[in-house]
Amino acid sequence: MCGIIGAVTESAIEPVLEGLGRLEYRGYDSSGISILSNNKIQTIKAQGKLNNLKERLSMQSLEGKCCIGHTRWATHGRANVTNAHPHQCGQVSVVHNGIIENYLQLKQQLMQWGHHFDSSTDSEVVPHLINHYLAQQMSPEEAIEKTITQLKGSYALGILINGTSNNLYAIKQGSPLVISQGNNGAYMASDAMGLGADSSKIYYPKDNQLITLNNHEIKLCSRSLNTKIHYVNNKHCSKVISKGEHSSFMEKEIFEQVDLLKKLSVNNYYDKYSAINFKDLNKITIIACGTSYYAASVAKTWFEKYANILVEIDIASEYRYRSPIIIDNELTIFVSQSGETADTLAALRYAKSKSAQTLALVNVANSTIAREAKFTFEIYAGPEIGVASTKAFTCQLAIFYKIAMEAAKQRSFIEPSELKELALNFMQLPYIIEKILQNRTDMKMMAKKLSNYSNILFLGRGALTAIAQEGALKLKEISYIHAEAYAAGELKHGPIALLDEKMPVVVIAPKNNLTDKLLSNIQEVQARNAPLFIIGDSSIREYVNLQEDEFFELPLIPESILPIISVIPMQLLALYSAKILGKNIDQPRNLAKSVTVE
Ligand code: F6R
Repeated sequence: MCGIIGAVTESAIEPVLEGLGRLEYRGYDSSGISILSNNKIQTIKAQGKLNNLKERLSMQSLEGKCCIGHTRWATHGRANVTNAHPHQCGQVSVVHNGIIENYLQLKQQLMQWGHHFDSSTDSEVVPHLINHYLAQQMSPEEAIEKTITQLKGSYALGILINGTSNNLYAIKQGSPLVISQGNNGAYMASDAMGLGADSSKIYYPKDNQLITLNNHEIKLCSRSLNTKIHYVNNKHCSKVISKGEHSSFMEKEIFEQVDLLKKLSVNNYYDKYSAINFKDLNKITIIACGTSYYAASVAKTWFEKYANILVEIDIASEYRYRSPIIIDNELTIFVSQSGETADTLAALRYAKSKSAQTLALVNVANSTIAREAKFTFEIYAGPEIGVASTKAFTCQLAIFYKIAMEAAKQRSFIEPSELKELALNFMQLPYIIEKILQNRTDMKMMAKKLSNYSNILFLGRGALTAIAQEGALKLKEISYIHAEAYAAGELKHGPIALLDEKMPVVVIAPKNNLTDKLLSNIQEVQARNAPLFIIGDSSIREYVNLQEDEFFELPLIPESILPIISVIPMQLLALYSAKILGKNIDQPRNLAKSVTVE
């Protein structure tokens, strides 16, 4: 995790601070910068959000042409100023994203050599090692290259060394890094989102390629002379993303779903999806984390039902550690909004090493997962800033729905008329979602009541179990109310013991083939005096005697698109509960948008 950035330009502090603002989604426990100014490295750091750093910087006038910056998501060591980056040793200052796994051995060795450490981080060994080798009369390039031969783990590093005529060094192993040469200077960042208007062309360095950036040029170290820097267009370049009329990015992103689905329903991507031969597939395995995993859970039900394909789903952090069986003609699909999630990336690399066919479903084009998979389909959600994923989830589902239709078509498993109906259902999505958003006041009322509780249970059945899980995850993430989700039929196998008047139960209960079963589960809840809340259509209402703020009414919805629709009230419930409780919606505690460590 963590965002790193660097600039070599006339007034380097400005692009670095701007970039840190754009990278804050990668972590916001603390931030800091180092600047080469008057032949001296000055380092300023602050605990907490970037604004705290900006406030500190506003009290002094710092100028310089070479600057690095960092926004942290704490792994090793508490979120305080000492552990904030950059870490400095003598004339060397370093920002790091990743984890140095052998830092304890390195630290011990350095301490024996007389080095003193300030922080509890793994990262601090890097400037110490570079400094150690510089003291042995190595050149900066040699000292950095020698240092990285000692490091085990993953890293993307930005390195300032005093006395190198405003050179900035960048190198990576396993962690994401992007370099750019603009008209006014050279830049590096954890990802393209961090770069500003002067960065329309970007380069993704290879592992352990040492890069020197200065005002005039970007150079690869001598070892890499055979490699050419191959620039690609930066799709994120200079896009200013604002909240508009909304009070948070998450709220804006929830409302954006209507237009996004309108666009996805008019665009026909079948040609693209037909690149995959579904006809001969024996199995699909879908691998992802968090919200993306819940999208995979829903997708499984569509592939099975409409295309009769065997589908397995797995949590990315588990996949490669459980000796998964990859069979002939198996397609492995990796779902990731960011395209940088370390666990998903590692799972993709594992599948590739076993010669599996790989497909990535990503939001960020050009992300590492997008670049490494054999096939890549974008989900077209646009930049998602709120840490809690909303529009990326619905777009993942929408694209999965289309891919499942393509699979159904190729395998001729359902009648053409049914396929047509699936397509027509899809077209209704934006209009139904619009209606639900118009009724948001009803969800505000439900949130008001529910936010009084400390624990909430969510229930669903079939594909809607994954939506209940996603609803519980959203609520936990931004309101910090403890929430868990179950397939409703599982209630009686244990969780029912939790039910009493202090344990509200939210049931997703639109009309479908499981409604009768679900009604029995609802009876079980009411019989235990647990406060009941239902998200369902009018056909359910007559069976339950609930107050206005305990029932959120959905319109009648075709079954195939129910999961995509049902998540909208879940998102609203989390949003309004967090608002009522006065929580930070876009930057909830302990989280980061892009999880680039294992
Ligand atoms: C929850 C959330 C996370 C991510 C997960 C995977 O709101 O955003 O659970 O879904 O960290 O991230 P990606 O999709 O970027 O791989």
